[in-house]
Amino acid sequence: MLEYTLQGNSFERRFQENLMAKYIEESELLRIGEYTKLLKKQNEIFESEYSRLPRAYLETHGCQQNENDTERIRGMLFEAGYDFTDDPAKSDLVVFNTCAVRENAEDKVFGRIGILKHIKERRPHMMIALCGCMVQQKHIAERIQKVHEHIDLIFGPQALYRMPELLYNAYKSRKAVVDIEDSVGAIAEDIPVLRDAAHKAWVSVMYGCNNFCTYCIVPYVRGRERSRRPEKIIEEIKELAKDGVSEITLLGQNVNSYGLDLDEEKDFADLIRRVNEVDGIKRIRFMTSHPKDFGDRLIDAMAESEKVCPQLHLPLQSGSDRVLADMNRKYTSAEYLKKLEKAKKRIPNLALSTDIIVGFPTERQEDFEDTLEMLKKAEYDSIFSFIYSRREGTPAAKLESVLSEEKIHENFNRMLEVQNEISLRKNKAYVGKVVTVLIDGISKTDDKMLTGRTDTAKIVNFPGSAELAGSYRKVRITDARTWSLYGELV
Ligand code: SAH
Ligand code: SF4
Ligand code: F3S
Repeated sequence: MLEYTLQGNSFERRFQENLMAKYIEESELLRIGEYTKLLKKQNEIFESEYSRLPRAYLETHGCQQNENDTERIRGMLFEAGYDFTDDPAKSDLVVFNTCAVRENAEDKVFGRIGILKHIKERRPHMMIALCGCMVQQKHIAERIQKVHEHIDLIFGPQALYRMPELLYNAYKSRKAVVDIEDSVGAIAEDIPVLRDAAHKAWVSVMYGCNNFCTYCIVPYVRGRERSRRPEKIIEEIKELAKDGVSEITLLGQNVNSYGLDLDEEKDFADLIRRVNEVDGIKRIRFMTSHPKDFGDRLIDAMAESEKVCPQLHLPLQSGSDRVLADMNRKYTSAEYLKKLEKAKKRIPNLALSTDIIVGFPTERQEDFEDTLEMLKKAEYDSIFSFIYSRREGTPAAKLESVLSEEKIHENFNRMLEVQNEISLRKNKAYVGKVVTVLIDGISKTDDKMLTGRTDTAKIVNFPGSAELAGSYRKVRITDARTWSLYGELV
């Protein structure tokens, strides 16, 4: 075992002391509400001068948690009297919700910030806010303040609920407003939400992460694990169902830890059984499940709750036990496979997906070969694969890579080849079958086609008209490709 794993653990312990979830008090939320009113007044004055509401442009980078956070930002801005646009050049307020998980995610944001500078030269009144995981890192926030003077507001994920106050202060002050205070984090309930899709919704059940995988920045930028109270989650899902939402995805970095910080003994298995009872909800998905905590109680709850989709995302990261230990993942490949086999046996037709990192610093060629072997054994329907990216402040960042960059890229491509063949084979097994699809709408690549998903999360394309969006229809599969299925309505 490497020395940095121990460092990771002691860091973990420091935070474990503060286990019970904290909630933002109502009085604090009411205080923030006053700033929403002030912004609204300001926007009414804007409207009387320019005969239109100020327009906000929102852009989300990163994962579903960020998507869900953006929906909250949109809700808060809507309440404060903003209109929305999908063109930053026509906006009065730009909000980038950023991601820090890999270097290319950050590079993309820096590129976008550069473009905004030119837009702002033509629209000097335009307010620019950066929020999310990337700017929670001190060195990044400092760099932005130093190099990008056109940024007016910077705040981290834990200050999200305070956005109306921070934004108002940014309008009033002439300097950039920054709030990236590092706190354990607390839960703010009842923030307004304005969602994208009418029939599907993300619902965060917990925030933060306590796992400290040695490559990962998330625990440092998202704070400690904290669970929302089950009543609040159920209340939100009932509201969604009333509004016509029929599919929900429960979100958390490690949903298996859900409830550990609650004062009642309720875990994620209990929660999905309760969600299964909500009238109007037809499909329940969730992510992400950490293999170390994935177990029989959840498998049983999945198998026994008819609305829970036969779909499991179980990130493996590596097939080598040595690399898994260096990553601080706390399971072996054999333990992982055993759990997977159990789930497959208990849940018929289970679709599987995973995350894999190629080129973790201590990964040797034989470790990579172990990962390939695991892909063949597990037979995932799809994988999300990433080349390791060094994240400042994480234990693995101190290590030199064993393999060369060329070799890592070669391995990465080899892995895709192996997986593509498995994915295609698994998709081909659908040809001739009739599946139920929740229709998302018109396909982005072909406007004569509709696109939707099966309960196993397979993308299905088929001819049909737009008004079917949001409905469940039976489709006969006629063709299968690596990434999607094709068919016709029956
Ligand atoms: N909490 C989730 C995933 C969060 S991040 C989980 O544990 O599964 C999503 C994925 O990004 C991870 O599963 C991992 O595969 C990848 N990832 C995280 N940090 C990375 C890094 N530094 N370099 C490359 N990939 C990384
Ligand atoms: Fe990152 Fe996921 Fe590990 Fe948490 S469990 S440290 S989010 S990879
Ligand atoms: Fe998600 Fe990226 Fe943050 S993956 S949790 S938005 S670092």
